[in-house]
Amino acid sequence: MNLNNMTKAGVIGAGTMGTGIAQIASTNGHSVTLYDVSPDQLKRSKESLEKILNRQIEKGRMSPKEVKDILQRIHFTNNLSDCADCEFVIEAIVEDLSIKKELFRNLESIVSESSILASNTSSLSIASISSVLKFPERFLGVHFFNPAPLMKLVEIIPGISTSDKATEITKNFIRNWQKVTVTAKDTPGFIVNRVARPFYGEALRIYEEGIADAATIDWAMKELGGFRMGPFELMDLIGHDVNYKVTESVFKEFYYDPRFKPSFTQKRMVEAGRLGKKTGLGFYDYRNGSKNPEPNNDNVLGEKIFSRILSMLINEAADAVFMNIASVKDVDLAMVNGVNYPKGLLAWGDEIGLSHVLDSMSALQVEYREDRYRPNPLLKQKVRNGKNFHD
Ligand code: NAI
Repeated sequence: MNLNNMTKAGVIGAGTMGTGIAQIASTNGHSVTLYDVSPDQLKRSKESLEKILNRQIEKGRMSPKEVKDILQRIHFTNNLSDCADCEFVIEAIVEDLSIKKELFRNLESIVSESSILASNTSSLSIASISSVLKFPERFLGVHFFNPAPLMKLVEIIPGISTSDKATEITKNFIRNWQKVTVTAKDTPGFIVNRVARPFYGEALRIYEEGIADAATIDWAMKELGGFRMGPFELMDLIGHDVNYKVTESVFKEFYYDPRFKPSFTQKRMVEAGRLGKKTGLGFYDYRNGSKNPEPNNDNVLGEKIFSRILSMLINEAADAVFMNIASVKDVDLAMVNGVNYPKGLLAWGDEIGLSHVLDSMSALQVEYREDRYRPNPLLKQKVRNGKNFHD
């Protein structure tokens, strides 16, 4: 196995993620086979790529020749056998375990024994998908973020059966696509979708307690915290259906740990069809001419909100290290490059003082007596020993 720029790449599923991944692979010089069951979807994928790439010409970022070459290197097909000569194949089809298993069963009978097979799954375990493979050692998770061509981060997830060799080759291969890779254990939410949960969950909790409205919480996180978007704006953008589903799945997969408990407020929004920007109504009103409430710019209240959410995020980041999900470096890289956080959470904790974070968590735990607020043991150890995460 030696993957380089001449490698033929296969992308399965020409939806949002598959189309973006095919664009990246082709832009980096690979010839790409992009397969989908639906000919209509292949047509839409091609049209959307043409539109995106033509915009690059208009902006002077690419020449017409470059764009023509990128498009020509992608072979759109609804015949899976066209992936036969692909040495690296990544799947980005519907998030359904039995459908993914069926696909990999078929795919393995088509590609060579030495090719690497990957899944872009967000919520299924790599172990469960790999169970259908004859050679599971060449299979792993390669998790891109939306929009794939713009987001720098790719989480690499070796499963229980993945060989070190396949992991190393894949990391180098993806790094050649100018991506930042981090390695995560095959556990629910990997790094980003696990560590980011309190950004939404604690914001919703503060809202439900009536401490502040959505506009004020968003203002606190942006103005005082430096986040690009507030939690409510971001949930409206992602779509409450999608965001709630991730929270619910992480909660269930963690055997109902109260740290990840979903919110009734968000559930009701989903049930009512208030899915956010895409339906015109979420926490904010996006319909023409609508007015949204102004935040309460009270600095004391804002600091309280920001400090509570940030402490929860740092506590969660500490847990990912404590449970050996990823290294300190990778947890910080993941949040900066996968969800555009202004700083790595553990570096942020070091900066504001880990004892401050621990005090904040302990105060919440004393106040609420809920397991949700338990301070992470690694955070406690660091404070006890006078250490930082980045020592
Ligand atoms: P999508 O719904 O936009 O695209 C899925 C595509 O798969 C569709 O074009 C559909 O026709 C095709 N498809 C369905 N069954 C198929 C089969 N048996 N064989 C071939 N093609 C098939 O979905 P999206 O959002 O691109 O997600 C794809 C995968 O990527 C999922 O596993 C999802 O969890 C994951 N993911 C999604 C992210 C997102 O923000 N949308 C982010 C990271 C991962």
